[in-house]
Amino acid sequence: MSSSTVDIKYRCLHPSCCVNCREGLITVEAELFDRLIAESAEKDVIKSPKGACRLGFRQPYKIIKVERQEAPADAAPIQPYVTSPTKADEGPIALLMAEHRDILKLLSVIEEHLRIRDIDALWVSTVDLENALNLHSGRKEEDVVLPILSEILPFGDGLGAIVKEEHREIVSLLHAFRAAMQDGDINDGIIRSMIVSLKSHIRKEDYEFFSLVEGRIDEETKHRLLAGMAEAEAAFVKAVPGDRAIKTDAQKAAATRRGAYYDEMMDVRSLAKADTGCCH
Ligand SMILES: [Fe+2]
Ligand SMILES: [Fe+2]
Repeated sequence: MSSSTVDIKYRCLHPSCCVNCREGLITVEAELFDRLIAESAEKDVIKSPKGACRLGFRQPYKIIKVERQEAPADAAPIQPYVTSPTKADEGPIALLMAEHRDILKLLSVIEEHLRIRDIDALWVSTVDLENALNLHSGRKEEDVVLPILSEILPFGDGLGAIVKEEHREIVSLLHAFRAAMQDGDINDGIIRSMIVSLKSHIRKEDYEFFSLVEGRIDEETKHRLLAGMAEAEAAFVKAVPGDRAIKTDAQKAAATRRGAYYDEMMDVRSLAKADTGCCH
């Protein structure tokens, strides 16, 4: 079990690094960081942990800054993840990227709960993620950031539409996964799709969308963004997990629809099988 994590601000020293994760932040378990340092010949250069380099190699990473974060003794272990290539340490974009890091930590917790097949823990960890997404993606990005950016950026509307579409997809998958848990199922297909979509969305925002807008917003806009986000945060009311076994009428109706859809799908499959005589 984990007791602390380390945020490493790094620069990739590979001479022909051709991807835009050349600089960034990577978060790893403290134990892994200590191991990387121990196996390194220079104290400020480590070999990137598995999964960090987008090209798939272990590259030399020059350490710019290291920050240890204490985690509760019973916190789930995390997978290394890279994000936040922002140059700024503060401001609205840095804040949004920092929230991406928090969301990735919540994903790590969900991945750990999936690994140990703990449905009750998943019931709680997925509502934590849902709350984080509703506040970050819905209240802050969609209600505050995207309208302001589409005012000031010529391409803001198009980017905003893509971002919103991805939010819809991620949240629908999360809802479908939670609904299946109410029927007693841990649906790996749905949750894995959600995890992949969310990681790719965060990467897209960090490395493409936010990096693109960061240099284009003036001080006044930064203040408007920060004020709007602070207001959204203050007004946000978190949902509680509730009892997994208790369904509202709407949830019962949705479960019936899912059951009917599944039966229909199985009927179509068996008909198709009967038609072709295929044995698979
Ligand atoms: Fe985001
Ligand atoms: Fe987003």
